[in-house]
Amino acid sequence: NTVQKRPNVIDICVETDKLLVKLQDNHKILETVQKGLADYLETKRIAFPRFFFLSDEELLSILSNTKNPTSVQPFLRSCFENMARIKFLDEDKNYEMVSMTSHEGEVVLFAEPMIPQGQVEIWMGQLEKLAIKTVKLRCAETLTKYIQMVFENGIQGRASWVKCGFAQGVCLVNQLVFCNDTEWAIRDGQLKEYRDQLDKQLECMTELVRTGLNKLESKVFSALLTYDVFQRDKIQTMIDQKVISTNDFEWAKHPKHICNVDQMYLQPIHGSNDFYYKPNYSAEEYKKMVESVLEEASEIKSEFLISFQQILSTLPYQFEYLGNTARLVITPLTLKIYSTISQSQGMFKFSSCSGPAGSGKTETSKQLSNKELGLVCVVFNCSEGLDLIGIKRMLSGVISSGGCLVMDEINRLSLDVLSVFAQMVLGVQRGLQLCGGSIVKTPKTEVGKSMAHIQTTKILFENTELNLQSTAAVIITQNPNYSGRQKLPANLVALFRAVSVMVPNYMKICQIRLYSYGFKKATSLAQKAVSVFKLCSEQLSLCSWYDYGMRAINSTIQAAGNIRQELGNMCVQNSKDIPLKHNVPDPRYYTEDQIVLRAITETNSPKFLHNDYLLFKNILSDLFPQIKPPFIDYHLLIDELNQVLRSNFMNFLQPDE
Ligand SMILES: Nc1ncnc2c1ncn2[C@@H]1O[C@H](COP(=O)(O)OP(=O)(O)OP(=O)(O)O)[C@@H](O)[C@H]1O
Ligand SMILES: [Mg+2]
Repeated sequence: NTVQKRPNVIDICVETDKLLVKLQDNHKILETVQKGLADYLETKRIAFPRFFFLSDEELLSILSNTKNPTSVQPFLRSCFENMARIKFLDEDKNYEMVSMTSHEGEVVLFAEPMIPQGQVEIWMGQLEKLAIKTVKLRCAETLTKYIQMVFENGIQGRASWVKCGFAQGVCLVNQLVFCNDTEWAIRDGQLKEYRDQLDKQLECMTELVRTGLNKLESKVFSALLTYDVFQRDKIQTMIDQKVISTNDFEWAKHPKHICNVDQMYLQPIHGSNDFYYKPNYSAEEYKKMVESVLEEASEIKSEFLISFQQILSTLPYQFEYLGNTARLVITPLTLKIYSTISQSQGMFKFSSCSGPAGSGKTETSKQLSNKELGLVCVVFNCSEGLDLIGIKRMLSGVISSGGCLVMDEINRLSLDVLSVFAQMVLGVQRGLQLCGGSIVKTPKTEVGKSMAHIQTTKILFENTELNLQSTAAVIITQNPNYSGRQKLPANLVALFRAVSVMVPNYMKICQIRLYSYGFKKATSLAQKAVSVFKLCSEQLSLCSWYDYGMRAINSTIQAAGNIRQELGNMCVQNSKDIPLKHNVPDPRYYTEDQIVLRAITETNSPKFLHNDYLLFKNILSDLFPQIKPPFIDYHLLIDELNQVLRSNFMNFLQPDE
């Protein structure tokens, strides 16, 4: 009011001497309110630890709207790994929750419907448990479906199983079965026969990918094919190395999954005649065995357990819902990172990956914690402005929800923040040592596997009492070559086992990814694509925005895969296979070379300067001789651009000039 009456700032400040006191008082009140609010939010976060992953504003927006449970929808993805939406029924009555949908659109029915009741942090906690229970149940169902379908239809049965399954379960069950079958093949000296069977499986799957699948199906097939190739190569290596025992290091270092359905380990899982294993018991006896596995799996259901095993570590799988997402190609480098992380986790230590840009540090750490261990994984991009409160909040969330925190580019933080971070991590590791980590229990029967069980314990973390879950992990990544980055202090380095990551295997990654999209000529196309990037890096000018690393190659392959999937049956290997339409080759058909050529051109040419673009075109015509680039009609786009440019008095250069 005073200001309104006399809107002159000097008058107000000079003449009313009470203003300063008033402002100081208000500031004090504001501080008390903020402290109270922070304490209040902290209690909510301790009650449901995944709220630690939300900012204060986001959490307040949920808390201020508790009457309407649907208000949590926008924040689900920050709390859960890949739960994008929940289906609420009866929005004007009890808001019954019936299913969850992933970011890609996979819908999974909950194990049982749930009605959100009471305070939001309470029912969100129940929702977290329900999601885990659902994933367990769906995985157990996927296993029983696999056994039934393979028993009835062999390799064809397996292919149809992939289509009707639940993506996360399909990948896991595939791993479970592979580990069991391989151990049988090693013991019986039948690795060669098993490799032939895997070859047949691969062929059957790639045929299906080529026939055109819907979007979700092709995602599962791609993920599974990536794994299948890796598994076939693994068996080949074991044949070459003459592995004869399951204790051989070559097999011990393989990342394996095992489960607590003991009956499953009584025999390799097989179906009709296309199976390598020729059992010496009758079909009748085998049928009985299959039935006993099915019975055990359906009895276990929500008690279904999976463990990850590599060398000396057995770690529990946590069944976070992951949806239907792509997988990285597993190369020797990936395995090196996997074994460092899994072994250090078994010794109550954490791990650190260091290496140049684009070598796969972040993505590989994420894939291990997500896909192999089923944890919720939070990637935290460290920047210089990051404060300790933020770090503490993330760590609190991760340790009480048993997830994995990836501190990306940690050496950007300042030295004082790093030393305090080291203290916090030490506290977590001590807690893990005190509770003894996850306990490995001996199996109920002789054939069963020793499974790891998650443990929880209470620890005092930075003056707050929190529940610590034994699966909690921290991974740090750094690129030590950039100038101006901090050298990590010794007390931090001592807590992490280091792995250095060098150049990824471009050729192999490219080849397997192309193969997983259904390209028959994957090997030669991968060679060409990698050579294009290599030649560009040597011949083109050095602009800071040109990138020829894994990221650029990846987006090119992704684009090629998308075009391939859209075309479905209209993709052929050679131009002479294109059917004629009005006596000319049908323009809707593409050859595999044309697809890759188009993908390389479209994803890369926009970033090149004019002179480099000409060089780039020459490189392409050298590597793809006599391949006519597919015709794409851009004239509408070009006309529009032309108009906009003219109206701004700019010149238009034809793309080929
Ligand atoms: N084994 C692999 N299979 C498939 N793609 C891979 C593989 N390794 C890395 N990539 C791809 O390479 C790209 C770069 O990986 P990532 O982001 O993990 O690199 P980084 O080492 O963390 O780099 P930076 O230091 O720049 O953060 C990603 O797009 C990733 O998908
Ligand atoms: Mg990174």
